[in-house]
Amino acid sequence: MKKPLLLGVVGFPLSHSQSPDLHNRWLRTVHLSGVYLPFEVSPSKLKRFFRMAQKVRLDGFNVTVPHKEKIIPLLDIVSKAAKTIGAVNTVVRKRARWYGDNSDWQGYLFSYKARFKKKPLKGKRIVLLGAGGAARAIVYALCHEKVSEIIIANRNAGRAEKLVRHFNRHFPHIPKRALPLNSKKLGEFLAKTDLLINATTVGLGNSRFSKSPIRSLRHKAIVSDIVYNPPLSPLLKEAKKSGHPILPGVGMFLHQAALSFELWTGKKPRGPRGMTLS
Ligand SMILES: NC(=O)c1ccc[n+]([C@@H]2O[C@H](COP(=O)([O-])OP(=O)(O)OC[C@H]3O[C@@H](n4cnc5c(N)ncnc54)[C@H](OP(=O)(O)O)[C@@H]3O)[C@@H](O)[C@H]2O)c1
Repeated sequence: MKKPLLLGVVGFPLSHSQSPDLHNRWLRTVHLSGVYLPFEVSPSKLKRFFRMAQKVRLDGFNVTVPHKEKIIPLLDIVSKAAKTIGAVNTVVRKRARWYGDNSDWQGYLFSYKARFKKKPLKGKRIVLLGAGGAARAIVYALCHEKVSEIIIANRNAGRAEKLVRHFNRHFPHIPKRALPLNSKKLGEFLAKTDLLINATTVGLGNSRFSKSPIRSLRHKAIVSDIVYNPPLSPLLKEAKKSGHPILPGVGMFLHQAALSFELWTGKKPRGPRGMTLS
């Protein structure tokens, strides 16, 4: 008899994670025996967790904050996308070797394309708020789709500049520019943009930007927020009220999770209402 699948997520803290609920539900709906467990592991214990994963023969796991970069040197093989992004969020054990991939970038694209079939990203002008791990995956996705320019505004402007330099090496033909989040120039770019994306943690627990970007935003620009808790962030509420089309973060969350699930099980997840992919 085949051994039940042993899956999980490693991160710190993990109390907010909806991944165990989602993946355990998906395992049931595709009739696979197995379990998906949360492993709350502090940064100093990541290597020890990895040895444990080898010993108990974990079949695969998700990696979340703060381990997405630190896990890379521990793996045997890393996908080209994950290498370029500089972060792994999905690990699979394949014939006793550990393979790392990143499903965030494709999760974002699948979610965008499911909602805006008739508005391809190619040629679009983008303003991206944030320069952390999720922002890196989104910049990769946007470059992959050949957008026409990416303005990256971050609280710590140095981090945005580093991100621009990094992606200029991989995608030199797509113009990129870094700005401090509070720069006066940001308003000029917002007034011309096709798509505003929030990839900061602002919005979590209903937190707000000190100066709302919506006021300066071009009429009819799409507003996308990858924060999914709450499902409708204050930024999206304000955008909706002002008549902008919106893209909530739950779509990216479900699509990136489905891609990880497929890597581990070879099956596409099916789910009850509210947890189903559009
Ligand atoms: N929907 C999904 O599937 C999905 C997937 C991944 C992540 N996310 C969400 O995306 C968000 C970012 O995740 P991450 O992994 O990129 O985190 P991260 O690497 O820790 O980056 C956090 C980002 O938020 C910015 N930030 C934090 N506090 C801020 C504040 N008070 N004002 C302005 N900017 C602030 C940081 O700016 P500094 O550089 O200046 O500190 C940085 O750009 C989280 O809310 C996470 O839950 C969603």
